[in-house]
Amino acid sequence: MESMLSLEFLRVVEEAAIAAARTMGLGDRHRSDAVAVEAMRKVMDTVEMDGTIVIGEGERDEAPMLYIGEKVGAAVHNPGGHYPQIDIAVDPLEGTNLCATGAPNAIAVLAASEKGGLLHAPDIYMEKIVVGPSCKGAVELDAPVAENLKAIAKRLDRDVEDLVVIVLDRPRHEKLINDIRAAGARIKLISDGDLSAGISAAVVGTGVHAVMGTGGAPEGVLTAAALRCLNGQILGRLVVSKPEHEERLAKMGITDPKRIYDTEDLAPGKNIIFACTGVTEGSLLKGVRFFGEGVRTHSLIMTLNPRQVRFVDTVHLEKRPDVKVRFA
Ligand code: FBP
Repeated sequence: MESMLSLEFLRVVEEAAIAAARTMGLGDRHRSDAVAVEAMRKVMDTVEMDGTIVIGEGERDEAPMLYIGEKVGAAVHNPGGHYPQIDIAVDPLEGTNLCATGAPNAIAVLAASEKGGLLHAPDIYMEKIVVGPSCKGAVELDAPVAENLKAIAKRLDRDVEDLVVIVLDRPRHEKLINDIRAAGARIKLISDGDLSAGISAAVVGTGVHAVMGTGGAPEGVLTAAALRCLNGQILGRLVVSKPEHEERLAKMGITDPKRIYDTEDLAPGKNIIFACTGVTEGSLLKGVRFFGEGVRTHSLIMTLNPRQVRFVDTVHLEKRPDVKVRFA
């Protein structure tokens, strides 16, 4: 399934990224998100699959497209055909504000697996800690911050002072930030985008050693799908703060709201595909570049089976037959 579909999903995230990038800096995050959703939806229906959105743009009534439970793929138009059943998690524009303000690290994201391979997480918060392959098994969600940092430093054979931790810049993280500072590690505060931060933490050479704090649960599942392919680890626990959250969890089949999820609990699939394309310039991926004659995108496509991580630099030759392609 994976080899066949990964290039198809590449097209899906590329088109979403291109559409969103055209709205970069216009100051309208809803429009940026809407065009990404629309572009993603359009390409998705050309993919030879019987797809179901398990993480998407929310409930059917509130989201015109890519809502949870929506059927996508060629099977929608050809119900008699034989297509693989695929569960799909999307974040057509991760970092809507980043795109609307032209800030770095906005990406278009899709993860896919066989049926049941991605947790159906509700759109609530999740406490998270993300580390790369060398630190797998070294951290605990409930351990004191200083202890986790010591364990990460030990695995990376460096001092705590040489670690960089990414944290979403939110008032709810005041204590976490103080604890990290008190332990001596350095912090990169980000305004949005803990999913791309989580991917960076699992790629050596990005200068990011961990991501800590509370962000979206859907982003947690997507991070887990990426980390399955990159050998990293995410630990997460849903933040259930209202009675209606419990009802939503029950509806989604989650019986233990206090459960700590490991990477394979969030993304248990045997066959996982993760695809993302940079929208704005980022630490891992370049943003979409428009150059008059065409468009250039930079993407990351990963599969578990076969185990491959591919960085894809695509030149979309849209307009002229005599277009010139530059080396980089
Ligand atoms: P959007 O792409 O929906 O704007 O979300 C961006 C994001 O920063 C995520 O990366 C993060 O998990 C979540 O929002 C944090 O939520 P909040 O802004 O409510 O703190």
